[in-house]
Amino acid sequence: MSYDLVIIGGGPGGYNCAIRAGQLGLKTAIIESRGKLGGTCLNVGCIPSKALLHASEYFEAASKTFPSMGVKITGLELDLPQMLKQKEDAVDGLTKGVEFLMRKHKVDYVKGFGAIAGVGRVEVKLIDGGSQTLETKAIVIATGSVPTPLPGVDIDEERIVTSTGALSLKQVPGKMIVIGAGVIGLELGSVWRRLGAEVTVVEFLDKITPTIDTEISTAFQRTLKKQGMKFELGHKVVGVEKASGGLLVSIEPAKGGAARTLEADVVLVAIGRKPFTEGLGIETVGVKTDQRGFIPNDHFKTNIDGIYVIGDCTTGPMLAHKAEDEGIAAAQAIAGQWGHVNYDVIPNVIYTDPEVATVGKTEEELKAAGIEYKTGKFPFMANSRARTNHETEGMVKVLEEVATKKVVGVHMVGAGVGEMIGEVCVAMEFGASAEDIARTCHAHPTMSEAIKEAAKGVDGWTMQA
Ligand code: FAD
Ligand code: NAI
Repeated sequence: MSYDLVIIGGGPGGYNCAIRAGQLGLKTAIIESRGKLGGTCLNVGCIPSKALLHASEYFEAASKTFPSMGVKITGLELDLPQMLKQKEDAVDGLTKGVEFLMRKHKVDYVKGFGAIAGVGRVEVKLIDGGSQTLETKAIVIATGSVPTPLPGVDIDEERIVTSTGALSLKQVPGKMIVIGAGVIGLELGSVWRRLGAEVTVVEFLDKITPTIDTEISTAFQRTLKKQGMKFELGHKVVGVEKASGGLLVSIEPAKGGAARTLEADVVLVAIGRKPFTEGLGIETVGVKTDQRGFIPNDHFKTNIDGIYVIGDCTTGPMLAHKAEDEGIAAAQAIAGQWGHVNYDVIPNVIYTDPEVATVGKTEEELKAAGIEYKTGKFPFMANSRARTNHETEGMVKVLEEVATKKVVGVHMVGAGVGEMIGEVCVAMEFGASAEDIARTCHAHPTMSEAIKEAAKGVDGWTMQA
């Protein structure tokens, strides 16, 4: 078979690249080894984790928040098999939807493991047996990422789990230890805490979510602690031993010191993800990787002509929407159009309750770069909708660069801020100043009025607090 474009990997990077290529008239094939399209995101990432976060948030609200709103529930109980089933239903529906989109855009879906066998040639070991060779003008590598293992900690995906096992635990653990206070640890730790587990998070560094603006991550940690999550910051796990009754987790201060043992029923290893390029045959054509295994890119091109790379297996944040935008841009570039991704405006959301949503530079980054900036802040405690909804935790912070009068960062912690960050991204794409946001009419009463008030704060005229 001969193609204009063959994409290896059917995640959000790969399948969006395929759709756009199909729209632009390129004869396209997508190869996926998992047996289902959607990649990590749809199968074992964004979608199943959000399904459990949503359901477990309702479960906790039913006992903790509903009574204060005059809603009494008796006999509330957890039906974990149903909660897991509705998660699987969401995954099934969406992965089938992606298959439909491939057919709609005339993209050939090849089920199997793809390996580059020369420039313009991809060999596929088919899931159903046998192999197939695809000839193509261009190849896009979209093979994604896998969890980073922790030396000395053997994953069995039942008691010692990565995010994949943590999405399908058959019962609520009594005690859960999460290694790594990053996005996965805090999202999935929150799920199991809400369902009844005692959750302790062990983090190597002295702060949680290390890349997030410190004022926001500090406020976020305070709220998580209030909810009952425990933290061992500045500690590392040096071993996990399987004992008959449970797991014995040895932790040590990161800076050195005496070890302690914590007991757990389940340990979740969530210390980051690494690019996946095993068996891909990149060495056969000389595609380079960096020291950490990522395939670097220059406008989505690898160092070899005709071979492109997008998503988690290349540099940049490991996020589904970043992979998607790169997929679109790469398809357009391959079709002879212009493809562009603005890496300064990629939102980052942590879907806990409250949520964290950030975009652009943090205060720490601006200080380190010597950029003069002004700050405006607004607490949800002073927002009328937040007070009405009993959702007063958190704040909005807007950062404006003095020299350009452009908003360069917005950082929020609060209920539903993941939906609110979109307006800020649009504003930043259009080069907005804080005043532009402050003078834009926002509906009342909405949580988004907090963004408007924080934006006013940049020029010192916050009105509602
Ligand atoms: P992937 O989604 O990893 O897809 C790559 C695909 O390629 C895989 O299906 C793999 O089977 C296939 N493949 C690999 N090698 C081959 C080969 N040689 N031949 C054929 N197929 C191959 N991001 C967000 O933006 N929001 C979230 O809420 C979010 N939540 C997450 C929750 C969890 C628990 C996890 C683990 C991740 C989450 N992410 C989230 C990150 C997100 O899933 C990834 O950034 C995204 O999936 C990357 O897309 P991708 O297309 O680059 O790779
Ligand atoms: P992460 O990079 O977000 O966090 C890993 C944490 O583990 C860091 O705080 C790090 O300091 C810590 N750590 C590293 N080694 C350690 C050790 N030995 N002991 C203790 N702590 C250690 O990685 P995570 O949570 O695994 O997620 C991987 C990626 O998946 C994220 O970076 C993100 O890109 C993506 N993701 C995105 C989500 C979202 O957008 N809502 C949700 C889940 C994942």
